[in-house]
Amino acid sequence: MQQTVHVPLGDRAYDVRIGPGLLSDAGTLIAPLLHRPRVAILTDDTVATHHLVPLQDALRAAGIDSTALTLPAGEATKSWPHLTRTVEWMLSEKIERRDILIALGGGVIGDLGGFAAAILRRGIRFVQIPTSLLAQVDSSVGGKTGINTPHGKNLVGAFHQPALVLADTDVLATLTPRDFLAGYGEVVKYGLLGDADFFAWLEINGPALARGDTAARVEAVARSVQMKADIVVRDETEQGDRALLNLGHTFGHALESATGYSDRLLHGEGVAIGCALAFELSARLGLCAQEDPSRVRAHLADMDMKARLSDIPGDLPDADALLDLMGQDKKVIDGQLRFILARGIGESFVTSDVPRDAVRELLADHLA
Ligand code: GLY
Repeated sequence: MQQTVHVPLGDRAYDVRIGPGLLSDAGTLIAPLLHRPRVAILTDDTVATHHLVPLQDALRAAGIDSTALTLPAGEATKSWPHLTRTVEWMLSEKIERRDILIALGGGVIGDLGGFAAAILRRGIRFVQIPTSLLAQVDSSVGGKTGINTPHGKNLVGAFHQPALVLADTDVLATLTPRDFLAGYGEVVKYGLLGDADFFAWLEINGPALARGDTAARVEAVARSVQMKADIVVRDETEQGDRALLNLGHTFGHALESATGYSDRLLHGEGVAIGCALAFELSARLGLCAQEDPSRVRAHLADMDMKARLSDIPGDLPDADALLDLMGQDKKVIDGQLRFILARGIGESFVTSDVPRDAVRELLADHLA
């Protein structure tokens, strides 16, 4: 049932292996990358409880010694102090230029670990073992690494591709249903941005996938990763097409910021609501059929996901304040907001040509 997506980036090419049971094969799969049988593992305390000992056992079974640093779980870990701690720990563990760091965790550990690997001794290789659905379909692939600063999220980092990604679909069983569905927001995004057939497949198979159907999970992760790999290969450093991966994110980031990056709204939930808003904006601008945003919202509702601003608990700021928050998005160029809009399901494009009033009106109508 396993699938492999190859990311053909020349001398930085790598495989993303997807399927059940990969964690227990990690030693055999990582051994060919090693110059000596020793690795460093970065993880967080939640993930460590479930997966650190099985990973270390799998490595040991292949004759690989490991040393692990376990950081606190949560977004606050993606910070200067924990980056310093990780780098100093690797130096004290005598991790050398030809060694490998394994990032075992969700997006926070993957981004922080990848960045620490990018700067340690001017760059060592790293392996991603993503343990959340969001990390499996998005953050572990494509080489974006980094940390947050008090000025904003992901403002310091580097493009540093992993040497291998092991997306073990069995580990998704330890996620809460809410975390799983938040990651599913990014899966839906792929169908909406570039593959109408995949979106139609999700409309049929999404509920089984959420209930735990392994074959459906493997297929959804593999199709998402293949789409991401194709885009990253076309535009590794986001000069153009890679911005398509930000469908739903301009709205989503503003909503995350408005809710204080709190439990009120998870990143993937913001992306799902953002996708629905991006489709509604596209319909209002006459770019796509009126039925398209209804179909997006209907699928999110079928999946028991948040689909509207009114699904976010608590008060939200008004439309102008949300627009101001969008203005702080990294995708702003020369003060112009960039949106990912759509000519239909699976037909997204990047544009700066969006009248501010249309966005304000859309938000005001949804907030009313
Ligand atoms: N998560 C968006 C990207 O990797 O470009």
